[in-house]
Amino acid sequence: MTSTAIEPSLTWDDGAVLALDQRALPHRRELLRLETVDQVVDAVRALAVRGAPAIGLAGAFGVAISARRHTTAAGLDAPAVRADAARLAAARPTAVNLGWAVNRALERLPDGPDAVLAEALAMLDEDVAVNLAAVARAADLVEALTPDRPLRVLTHCNTGRLATAAVGTALGTVRELADRGRIAEVLVDETRPLLQGARLTAWELGEAGIPYRLCVDAAAAAAMSRGMVDCVLVGADRIAANGDVANKIGTYGLAVAAARHGIPFVVVASDSTWDRTLPDGTGIVVEERAPDEVTHLQGVAAAPAGAGVHNPAFDVTPAELVTAIVSEHATVRPAATAARAAEQLAALSG
Ligand code: MRU
Repeated sequence: MTSTAIEPSLTWDDGAVLALDQRALPHRRELLRLETVDQVVDAVRALAVRGAPAIGLAGAFGVAISARRHTTAAGLDAPAVRADAARLAAARPTAVNLGWAVNRALERLPDGPDAVLAEALAMLDEDVAVNLAAVARAADLVEALTPDRPLRVLTHCNTGRLATAAVGTALGTVRELADRGRIAEVLVDETRPLLQGARLTAWELGEAGIPYRLCVDAAAAAAMSRGMVDCVLVGADRIAANGDVANKIGTYGLAVAAARHGIPFVVVASDSTWDRTLPDGTGIVVEERAPDEVTHLQGVAAAPAGAGVHNPAFDVTPAELVTAIVSEHATVRPAATAARAAEQLAALSG
């Protein structure tokens, strides 16, 4: 089983959130001390704290900061805390975990600021347990779906310890498979434009001593066609009731290529990533980010001044392309469910 002795990427420290600044990695290891709601909102927007579970936890602690700040001898200013909670929940639109965690913390407001903090701390502990349960289940599934030899796994973005409170989801599954002696190599998509794969996943894999090679996102489909990939493992930011999956931009293309080549495409995400209020992925709001993320490479212009830009941070992969979605509770096979439904419909109309 995957080790729990992992340095947390985010903790609570005497009235503040302490978080590893993910913008500085892999070059510098800098800790941010977030003492105000504005600082938490800015850190989430700037991707200093990023990854669906991590921004949810930051949001919950943001509510705790607000509840403490707005408690005086005169009592608790609940409307002020609710206004802060709304700002925290809106810091990024796509990951459902953010609004979910903020609301969960806010529900404890009637019991006072200590209760809000206790809820946020409970969520931190839960995320550790959720990671461990989901990665054990996902690793079992990957072993069942793939040849009985060390595997070549492809992953996208960063879904590891930086994105969660513990080992991560998809990248946690890679760690678990490595612990079981089942990883030959991880192919890491660099993940344009912000390079979460190159900067963060490569850093985490190096730290864990797991063999990897980086590739540009555009090399992934060709790697699959050349037999270099046994399984694709990714995380999720929001999953609709039918199993459509929003995740980092580029995920949809990986799913299309994996389906073309008969390669299992497995999503690992906590149950809190499901948004069962949405029947399908068409209702998922995809965050559009600043043009300079695309026109500039590490601050240097790579496009003509004034170039128009399309910069969605996420895409939505249709359920029918997803082999399985694994959470701490269950393994759902949306593609198989869709195929069965189509067969049933065909039988009815025949
Ligand atoms: O924009 P980011 O870096 O926050 O996007 C992160 C992702 O898309 C991850 O795959 C997702 O949040 C799952 S993290 C366990």
